[in-house]
Amino acid sequence: MLKRKDLLGLRDVSREEILQILGTAVEMKEMLKNDVKKTQHLVGKNVVTLFYENSTRTRVSFETAAKIMSANCTSVSAAVSSVQKGETLIDTGLNLDALLTDIIILRHNMSGAPVLLARNVKASVINAGDGMNEHPTQALLDIFTMREEFGDELRGLKVVIAGDVKHSRVARSNIWGLSKLGAHVTVVSPRTLLPMEIEKMGVQVCDDIDEAVVGANVVMGLRVQLERQKSKLLPSVSEYMKFYGITDERMAKADSGAILMHPGPLNRNVEVSSVAADGDSSRILKQVTNGVAVRMAIMHLLTGERK
Ligand code: CP
Repeated sequence: MLKRKDLLGLRDVSREEILQILGTAVEMKEMLKNDVKKTQHLVGKNVVTLFYENSTRTRVSFETAAKIMSANCTSVSAAVSSVQKGETLIDTGLNLDALLTDIIILRHNMSGAPVLLARNVKASVINAGDGMNEHPTQALLDIFTMREEFGDELRGLKVVIAGDVKHSRVARSNIWGLSKLGAHVTVVSPRTLLPMEIEKMGVQVCDDIDEAVVGANVVMGLRVQLERQKSKLLPSVSEYMKFYGITDERMAKADSGAILMHPGPLNRNVEVSSVAADGDSSRILKQVTNGVAVRMAIMHLLTGERK
């Protein structure tokens, strides 16, 4: 069991904890091969998904995972909750505590919101994506998918993360997690979409995607956040595809057996060509499938100790 109450980001999670989550997720995935997908890991536990931002994959996979593990699962959308009447995040959390909630899964547009909530509630808090900060469960399912492809030892694995790194919580969590496991991460992005001093996170920076992908084992695209174009950080979507998009031609320059990953939602023919997204090297839907096992593992490991 994890000795922590919450999972807020991979920055403050140890290599050993990451390996424990990934190992437990392997067992969970084995269980999901059964005809009857039901376990007792969370029997009697109350899980609430509290989402202040839109989601398909993260929300559905957490709710699927909770239900498979026999939890009572309730979904709260900020858009139709008392948040609209002015209730604060902390007050919402205290009320969920009062409603005997064991796990709150929070997605919020403000970086740091899960830390604030976790400090103020008894329930375990899992960060399902906070602003531009972290999306730890996405990175864990990404790393789980890489281990399925390349084996458990990721030391030296060449991972290229291409796209809007500046606004990407997925990129940040992957960089923290992959670095702890010894993978070699290169980021490739227009300079306007690259955070200042990103090299301090231990990654290599490359301006040319055709150069970056040579010999890569994993090429991970990030969603182009089309709203950024309004702030003039991205000159044109069609130019973006030309200079930074992931295509079959670019995948052919990667290592043989290289895989294409993307956290979704995908803008087809903006950051990844439709042909590459649906091609043999794509693991995009496998990532989604793996999200259930990884999230089962996390919820089990966070609650088991306190049972
Ligand atoms: N990858 C991801 O977080 O997708 P959703 O926004 O659909 O949850």
